[in-house]
Amino acid sequence: MADEQSTGSGNGGGVATAKDSLTVTDNRTGETFEVEITDGTVKAMDFRQMKVSEDDFGLMTYDPAFTNTASCRSAITYIDGEAGVLEHRGYPIEQLCEKSSFLEVAYLLVHGELPKQPELAYWQYAITHHTYVHENLKVSMEGFRYDAHPMAMLLSTVGALSSFYPAAKDLDSDTERYMAVVRLIAKMPTLAAFAYRHNLGLPYVYPDNDLSYAGNFLSMLYKMTEVKYEPDPRLERALDVLWILHADHEQNCSTAAVRAVGSSDVDPFSALAAGVSALYGPLHGGANEAVLRMLERIETVENIPDFLQGVKDKEEKLMGFGHRVYKNYDPRAQIIKKHVDEVLEATGGAQNPKLEIAQELEKRALDDDYFTERKLYPNVDFYSGLIYEALNIPSDMFTVMFAIPRTAGWLAQWLEMLDDPEKKIARPRQIYTGARELEYVGIDGRG
Ligand code: CMC
Repeated sequence: MADEQSTGSGNGGGVATAKDSLTVTDNRTGETFEVEITDGTVKAMDFRQMKVSEDDFGLMTYDPAFTNTASCRSAITYIDGEAGVLEHRGYPIEQLCEKSSFLEVAYLLVHGELPKQPELAYWQYAITHHTYVHENLKVSMEGFRYDAHPMAMLLSTVGALSSFYPAAKDLDSDTERYMAVVRLIAKMPTLAAFAYRHNLGLPYVYPDNDLSYAGNFLSMLYKMTEVKYEPDPRLERALDVLWILHADHEQNCSTAAVRAVGSSDVDPFSALAAGVSALYGPLHGGANEAVLRMLERIETVENIPDFLQGVKDKEEKLMGFGHRVYKNYDPRAQIIKKHVDEVLEATGGAQNPKLEIAQELEKRALDDDYFTERKLYPNVDFYSGLIYEALNIPSDMFTVMFAIPRTAGWLAQWLEMLDDPEKKIARPRQIYTGARELEYVGIDGRG
């Protein structure tokens, strides 16, 4: 999914030296200023001292969409887009996907370090035992139209959770913070699965506490009349890995939304509802669905050369390729690719012709100077849609599938924001471009 409007991790910096400064001459006044460079950045507030007169407000910086502005300090996720590196709390994503589980990665993101055995056991127990939602919330979900978009259902019910846990407003309480974190990670799959069943007109399935986090989600999606749903371990693992891959991605649009809204000291359920809303937008979620549509249009492997020519002629876009931050193979795409075959085999979709087209398309694009010169490599979305399709998950649900794991990242970032000594309510400046000091004209005199 088109996750990122992000600008990278702000990887500049290093040990401060006497030369770590910028000399700025304001040509309007001839004055020269020394501006400190720390961690590869200058402080926008240091420019405020540059004025043309005593009553001048001072120089501001202009950066729509924050494409070159770090909005916080963060120790959660490191991305080096040029090298194709993604690390959470210092651990490479490849190792986490191979050796860890989604719940352990969620613990790592939230607590800052890997859990010891009893800590992990308690974390898993706590999350497993908070998966149920209040019956009134279930009833309110039932009130949605049969064809309500599951993401619209999710964002409103996440906000509604705020009314069920009013004590979460007490941001100074470590217990309340912890309970909100546990509740959100625990209940997000339940809300997501209820939204899915609602669209199909099927009864909602209650959580099964005997199953793993991913296994329980599969049960809530697919359980019918059987007494006990037994998840296929291959699907359970593939889903768990997909969720590790989507758990956090530093200051992307939805994370920035959670931080900005949370900076008003609103409760965490309301702050996360803002994150879900941001993710709902087609520029953030939705690219993996576009990959599927593209593969359908290409239809056969024989049509690939014509399609690629269309891309080079700028008539088409190669969906699932390219990234604002990664100018190399998106490390998440490498990992997903390994799980595609496994999922297709488990779901009986091994003959899916789209997989063959995707693999051949990738091979040819990577052999083509047009794409390598522009540093266009597969991103996380190139194969994830194929996995979701094999799991029989409708495309409306793709973004919901993303919101489940990203909840862990949003919460980790929200907690970090609350404890940041530099925290202030987010309140950008503007360059005013409208009229000034007009004389009010009564309605009869407006021509
Ligand atoms: N297909 C064809 N050409 C492309 C593509 C593409 N997918 N992406 C970039 N280019 C071209 C672009 O036209 C430009 O060409 P030229 O130099 O001739 O003008 C060149 O490559 C450089 O691109 P850019 O404008 O610097 O790239 P960007 O950083 O603005 O865009 C992007 C990043 C992700 C929006 C873009 O690559 C894209 O639209 N990709 C397809 C959609 C997609 O797969 N999105 C999912 C992103 S990953 C999600 C996640 O992180 O969760």
